[in-house]
Amino acid sequence: MAESRLDNLDKIVSLSKARGYIYQSSEIYGGLAAVYDYGPLGSELKKNIRDHWWAAMTRKHDNVVGLDAAIFMHPKTWEASGHVEGFNDPMIDDKQSKKRYRADMLIEQHILKLRDKGKDEEADRLQGQLDTTGSRKGLCEDLHDIIISEEIRAPESGAFDWTDVRQFNLMFKTHYGATSSGDDDAIYLRPETAQGIFVNYKNVMDTARVQVPFGIAQIGKAFRNEVVARQFVFRMREFEQMEMQYFVKPGDDEEQYSAWLDKRLQWHKDIGIREENLRVAPHPDDKLAHYALAAADIQYHYPIGWQEVEGIHNRTDFDLSRHQEYSGKKMEYFDQQEQERYIPYVIETSVGLDRVSLMVLCDAYREEEVDGDTRTVLKMHPKLAPTKVGIFPLMKKPELQELAHKIEGDLNDQFMVRYDESGSIGKRYRRQDEAGTPFCVTVDFEGLEDNTVTIRYRDDMAQERVSVDQLENVIRDRMKSWKPE
Ligand code: GAP
Repeated sequence: MAESRLDNLDKIVSLSKARGYIYQSSEIYGGLAAVYDYGPLGSELKKNIRDHWWAAMTRKHDNVVGLDAAIFMHPKTWEASGHVEGFNDPMIDDKQSKKRYRADMLIEQHILKLRDKGKDEEADRLQGQLDTTGSRKGLCEDLHDIIISEEIRAPESGAFDWTDVRQFNLMFKTHYGATSSGDDDAIYLRPETAQGIFVNYKNVMDTARVQVPFGIAQIGKAFRNEVVARQFVFRMREFEQMEMQYFVKPGDDEEQYSAWLDKRLQWHKDIGIREENLRVAPHPDDKLAHYALAAADIQYHYPIGWQEVEGIHNRTDFDLSRHQEYSGKKMEYFDQQEQERYIPYVIETSVGLDRVSLMVLCDAYREEEVDGDTRTVLKMHPKLAPTKVGIFPLMKKPELQELAHKIEGDLNDQFMVRYDESGSIGKRYRRQDEAGTPFCVTVDFEGLEDNTVTIRYRDDMAQERVSVDQLENVIRDRMKSWKPE
């Protein structure tokens, strides 16, 4: 059985559209760049991922509680968090094509080209130069100098006619209230869900009777006016985050940081991602965000290369201290046992739901040669699969349809099932293979006699005869013992 690996996202994009996983937003009007809608299968996949994250964070930790904060927040929030001042990307414009590029990425692409040409020494030197442009102060000038001195040309027009490098704020701004229009009423769409957790930390502590160490978990939309927004749902302008802030005593932060990093890496394996496609990439000290004492990305080997799917940060007491300063409200915790007051440190785990969805699709995608034909199949963990069971009557005969519908009714309390009677059985299997459905059940005439059906497994296409009464158990056992191949 031959198998092919993906070297870009094209096949995932077209399968997502064809099978109802992901569509371009507002497609009938030509689409809206970097915004996507999830179709029937995609919304089910996302829901399954969300549920697994929520269970892993809240149900499995009795000191982690949930929150659902609003997207709109008081504008001061974003001054306190540093986003108004510092949430910028360094951009440069090609004067000829009027196209805008992220300056650091332009340099990175140039480095890759040098490596392709075997000019590793030159590439290393330039990489070193890029790595030392870490601080925000002087960043624009440094990047501009590199682009000019290396004579880096605009990718599309080929021109060498650049503007200066300027910082571009990534927050979406709108106006609050029916009569407003000026900057006084400006309000932002949240660029991360985390701040909703920080501003509610006291409320949660006072009402949920939790004590440090404890965590607050939240799932919700975030918005960033990304300038370089390509690569399908990897980098979007509207996306969904699953974040958890874990409040700890200062001094316990290092240990908790490593513990959460391990747990989060394990979660990605638990949802069926192949281990060889996951790795941890710690941030070097000179590349840490302004609020972080330590940080690491959990990266996945996407067809576009190793990229961040989740970030783990030790955010220290930065956010709570800033909210204390800007709001004038005390953010201290009183430790009854030790009789001391402190502002807790925060370990953050932050994962993008869209990036996880994309990772699941990429990791599951296979093309296999079967009897001289190519079968496309999504071998994702059955617990994430949008449809768990396809149910087919062998033919459109009333007695077969009746038993098939009865099985559908019995199973749909437990699993998402799909009844399908159109086309040959082979075609119906292939449709479900592409949708990632792990089990298909076919009802035939023999079954009418002895109350059995054929269950066919997506991954190895093996089939076996089972009693209708045992179907649910067989499916549950298979789901539990499933391993990625
Ligand atoms: N609260 C911390 C925070 O927001 P981040 O590294 O900027 O940190 C966390 O984002 C996660 O959110 C990323 O690891 C990624 O999965 C997801 N994410 C960030 N920007 C995104 C975008 N433009 N499109 C899709 N997902 C994004």
